[in-house]
Amino acid sequence: MKKFNHAIVRRPCKAMVEGITSAPELGKPDYELALKQHDAYIEALKQCGVEVTVLPADERYPDSCFVEDPAVVTRACAIVTNPGASSRNGEKYEIIDALQKFYPEEKIEYIQDPGTLEGGDVMMVGDHFYAGRSARTNEEGIRQFIEILEKYGLSGSEVTLEKVLHLKTGVNYIEDNNMLVSGEFTEKPEFDKYNKIEIPEAEAYAANCIWMNGTVIVPEGFPAVLEAVKKAGYPVITVDTSEYRKLDGGLSCLSLRF
Ligand code: GLY
Repeated sequence: MKKFNHAIVRRPCKAMVEGITSAPELGKPDYELALKQHDAYIEALKQCGVEVTVLPADERYPDSCFVEDPAVVTRACAIVTNPGASSRNGEKYEIIDALQKFYPEEKIEYIQDPGTLEGGDVMMVGDHFYAGRSARTNEEGIRQFIEILEKYGLSGSEVTLEKVLHLKTGVNYIEDNNMLVSGEFTEKPEFDKYNKIEIPEAEAYAANCIWMNGTVIVPEGFPAVLEAVKKAGYPVITVDTSEYRKLDGGLSCLSLRF
């Protein structure tokens, strides 16, 4: 099933080694390896039938390869977010040109101060968008976000986060009513209507898989998740994201898909 035609990615910059992390014990990313993994990621997206726009590395923003955060892209509009991490906030200005290639000016919306929102906190399920209230995304950001969605006939609702960085750190919709859930999300009543595929704690990182036109891209090295996704009937591609994991980043963080 073809749903996405485009993806936008941003090449990692050398300054990525100074990116934000909650897991310093994993060590600093190896930049050369991160570039190779990024190449493989782009190839995987292309294999899933999308045209990939590759934005240049931006040394001013160590975390800017996580291009999912400064924007949310929908079938009806694009929303430039207002990232809650101060070192990342300026990334919102750098994504606008790329969005303008795909969306007319009047369909590009903006989250404004004091609202904050990061795309990693947004999970799309059809025309409904779950927004995680997190350390990066606040109540006002979610209020503005839902108001924008409703203008376009879309809808949104808030999910409160207790532990993880972003909503999609722990829960990801892979279509066909199937949802990968880990940790705090296994018990959230708002997800009871989905077929929840529970991810064991030891492989929690791999809850962040992406569905791409029928194929699920799974991070390499997580056999239980790989098996569960295959068992659910999906063709899979694995991509090694070890260097991005060191910065709390996963597969979804590395692209905008629309
Ligand atoms: N290192 C990715 C982030 O914290 O946003």
